[in-house]
Amino acid sequence: MAWLLARTCFPKTIPRDRFSSCKTRAWSKGPLTAYMPEAAAFPEPMDHQGLYQVSVEQTDAFWGALGRSRIMWINPFHTVHCCDLQQGHMSWFLGGQLNVAVNCLDRHVHKAPNKVALIWEKDEPGQEDQITYRELLEMTCRLGNTLKRQGVKKGDRVAIYMPSCPMAVASMLACARIGAIHTVVFAGFSSVALAERIQDAQSETVITVNQGLRGGKVVQLKKTVDEAVKLCPMVKRVFVSKRTEENVPMSDLDIPLEEEMMKEDVTCEPVALESEDFLFLLYTSGSTGKPKGLVHSQAGYLLYTAITHKYVFDYHDGDVFGCVADIGWITGHSYVVYGPLCNGGTTVLFESTPVYPNPGRYWETVERLKINQFYGAPTAIRLLLRYGDDWVKKYDRSSLKILGSVGEPIDTEAWKWYFSVVGDGQCPVVDTWWQTETGGICISPRPSNPGAEILPAMAMRPFFGISPSLLDDKGNVLTQNDISGALCISQAWPGMARTIYNDHQRFRETYLMPYPGYFYTGDGAYRSNKGYYQLTGRLDDVINVSGHRLGTAEIEDVVNKHGAVAESAVIGYPHEIKGEGAYAFIVMKKGFNLSQKNLASELQGLVSKQIAKYAAPEYVQVARRLPKTRSGKIMRRVLKKIVENKAEELGDLTTLDDHEVVKEIIEGHKQLLQEETGQ
Ligand code: WTA
Repeated sequence: MAWLLARTCFPKTIPRDRFSSCKTRAWSKGPLTAYMPEAAAFPEPMDHQGLYQVSVEQTDAFWGALGRSRIMWINPFHTVHCCDLQQGHMSWFLGGQLNVAVNCLDRHVHKAPNKVALIWEKDEPGQEDQITYRELLEMTCRLGNTLKRQGVKKGDRVAIYMPSCPMAVASMLACARIGAIHTVVFAGFSSVALAERIQDAQSETVITVNQGLRGGKVVQLKKTVDEAVKLCPMVKRVFVSKRTEENVPMSDLDIPLEEEMMKEDVTCEPVALESEDFLFLLYTSGSTGKPKGLVHSQAGYLLYTAITHKYVFDYHDGDVFGCVADIGWITGHSYVVYGPLCNGGTTVLFESTPVYPNPGRYWETVERLKINQFYGAPTAIRLLLRYGDDWVKKYDRSSLKILGSVGEPIDTEAWKWYFSVVGDGQCPVVDTWWQTETGGICISPRPSNPGAEILPAMAMRPFFGISPSLLDDKGNVLTQNDISGALCISQAWPGMARTIYNDHQRFRETYLMPYPGYFYTGDGAYRSNKGYYQLTGRLDDVINVSGHRLGTAEIEDVVNKHGAVAESAVIGYPHEIKGEGAYAFIVMKKGFNLSQKNLASELQGLVSKQIAKYAAPEYVQVARRLPKTRSGKIMRRVLKKIVENKAEELGDLTTLDDHEVVKEIIEGHKQLLQEETGQ
């Protein structure tokens, strides 16, 4: 098979015990200076609280020490940070020049060329591929040379539409090596959504695969790219890697990737980039219809992902780190690719699904690959829990040391099952809170303190350098404990996003202006009596479906394009497995005679085509009108209570213009549920 070029150059010779677990169950023990050597730079002997205090009070000393010791610089930085959250300027490690690909590859090749960098757990069950640091460097260099030869330059945006596979990782790193800016688009997005992102990023280059494989099914990714490219006149070249043996139609724009790579040299000069040059854009949903291209820069992001990866998961050399997120999301960027590779770790690239070929897939993978840290999403845990304990228990999970959770709140039942069944009560579970915007984990139970108490289903403690604050709706800082408020962060940290691509004003309006002087996360949180943080859900119109972030306005924009729809309101409702689902209320235009059921299937088809399958509303309810205030604003909180089946708690309705309409909607909702459940 030609497509894994590097493997044809180097034999697959890594004995399994080179990367198998060191089977210590306890978190690192010993003084903090052994745990974090940079702590020795500070005068007092320190416990976690002391070190955390230093991290937020002596920002320059703390991050400066880490920046110097954990990153390889081409030119050293002269200023650790220069940030003003009021003004929207955030710069870290000024004057420094580096190359992220060198930090993730070359320096490890120098030390241990045959160490396994990636274990690709392919969709096909039981078929892993191991890629060493040397092989990954060669792939990256050949790919970087190919991009350059075809005209890709420093600063160009390159769209990557690929499943989790080594060529995708090499594509990201090749961009980093030559100074291009990658924008990975999750391979579940439709052609329209892909086109929208290509247009916004003004990408002239796309990298894709002929076909993907997911859960045993072929996914025609190249075909989706063909459709997207028709809408994107700026695209000049499409590199096509061969994930399957199938030949797909190729046009003038298309370049067979492996064939071109074969012609290239295995070395590629890394470009010296400024700390604040852009590393990548990643699109995510917000409360308006248009996705935002969040920008992460080089040094701060890399350092922050590496440090969080090391301390939150207590990662040690020789461990096999298994984050099962797709590389199309920020979790895949930070904890499949950049964090683990910067640390010289062995990282698993998981291409399949939790239930293919059966619900034992994750745990069979843990057994076969001897995974030490497993990092997954609550939606998958909730799903697997329903299949019972046997699927877990039949596999040996004794390699596991830490279990992580990310992307959405994990409920206590799922947390306990994860802890007691998956981890046999032996592995700490770390519920990690963070966002595409934060770059890396910000709140997590054990950010550095071995043996610290962990409470179920709570993110608990801020990571180094993160100072969370809770604010009320008038902008007052809530200083006491046992209180809830809007979660904000009161000082800049190295991993935070710097801007929204081409729209800094939107960045400021969304994150920095709601509470001047603070970064506003959009999430609510509760601070317990002991000062621990627990996330309570989004405060804006963003919902979380199976761990995928979606703006209800995005869905409304699509639904409103249907000829029969006069007006719509899409609301998130609680879903047992997915966490949340989308529920659409529709007012039809006069003269349309479409049944609710038919309209539902047409709208579901439309949303799947324009955004992605997972975004399609599960319920579509036709209403005569939507509940509005007298000034004409849709009362979304009323609809929210109805879809949560809490119609008795509608609250203050004095501003409602038509009470009859609410009664009708409650009735319609009951009927729809009855029809759907057949009761
Ligand atoms: C939610 C994913 C509760 C939250 C890394 C956040 C969580 C959004 C947690 C970001 C958690 C993430 N507990 N909620 N541990 N982790 N979230 O950008 O609402 O895809 O704002 O980043 O997911 O989603 P994103």
